Amino acid sequence: MSFLDHLIVRTLPLVPKPVVGRFSRRYIAGPTLEDAMRVVRELNAQGAMATIDVLGEEIENREQAIAYASQYISVLDEIARLRVDSNISVKPTALGLKLDRDLCHEQIARVVARARDLESFVRLDMEDSSCTSDTIEIHNRLKRDFTNVGLAIQAYLRRSWPDVRSLAAAGANFRLCKGIYVEPRRIAFKDPLIIRKNYRRLLEEMLSRGCYVGIATHDESLVWEGIRLTETLGIPRDRFEFQMLLGVEEELRRILIDAGYRLRVYVPYGKEWYAYSVRRLKENPALAGQVFRSLVRGLVPGQARIGSAAEGGRHEAPIDKIVRRP
Ligand code: FDA
Repeated sequence: MSFLDHLIVRTLPLVPKPVVGRFSRRYIAGPTLEDAMRVVRELNAQGAMATIDVLGEEIENREQAIAYASQYISVLDEIARLRVDSNISVKPTALGLKLDRDLCHEQIARVVARARDLESFVRLDMEDSSCTSDTIEIHNRLKRDFTNVGLAIQAYLRRSWPDVRSLAAAGANFRLCKGIYVEPRRIAFKDPLIIRKNYRRLLEEMLSRGCYVGIATHDESLVWEGIRLTETLGIPRDRFEFQMLLGVEEELRRILIDAGYRLRVYVPYGKEWYAYSVRRLKENPALAGQVFRSLVRGLVPGQARIGSAAEGGRHEAPIDKIVRRP
């Protein structure tokens, strides 16, 4: 990452929200459930499955937790009604994890029960390390009553090895990702090479214990490891899937689908797009650089266009329209 890109990432909080919105459009289906369904249909037509995330994180009261759970139930109903190939991903903090763990368990259980009735599946996203133990605890409680629930594990966490060993022994259904939150070194590995090695080690443990795994990465060396490990261990292709985020590495996605692998795309939608967008932009330093360059160009009269297709944006729009968008 160049010095300029580092600088942009650090100053992202200063970038006007509408500009962040403009650049993160590729990562988000749109504000409504209809937008999510349109994108899921497009993905299904391309041979990909989906998992829908209703954007939103920490909430302030019980009513919001209950409302989020109800929104997820509507998503499940719509998936069933339209017969699209998608399940859902849930952020426990949006369902009250930081307010009251029992409330959170209760609300996720409502969602998982509906998913069970509709023969669908619920994945618990893994948030920052202050949520790890509670998320695993809620997952384990849910597993007593349901089979259609799984969780995400982050390869950057030092604790993930013992966590995976005990979860795998109980037959958990995993998503394995590197991990995105900023954590202190005593909690998380910082060296990208060690994170990769840990990813491989965890993946091997999950697969060799017979667990279903969503191999969630755009890192081609890890995709290669996933293919190598599943071949070496003789894991059938219906016992794992690759997972990618909407708007990221579409070419690699295509390559895997064409090679006959199961592939699921994470499709976020909703009005609470900002926190998710900033995380994605921080992972894409090239795009963060584009934000800066566009802002500079926006200061020069007649140079106010941003996000050309060549820069990786989906559309091109004059900056005056962009800054007025809600
Ligand atoms: P890496 O970051 O090295 O990216 C590999 C390559 O992919 C990059 O070189 C670049 O080309 C491309 N790329 C990656 N991100 C990009 C972006 N935003 N824009 C453009 N290009 C990009 N994390 C977490 O903490 N909890 C969770 O529950 C989840 N859930 C989740 C679900 C799914 C389906 C995925 C794919 C990822 C997650 N994550 C997550 C995020 C994950 O932890 C991680 O931050 C990202 O996947 C990026 O890591 P990679 O393994 O892709 O490697």
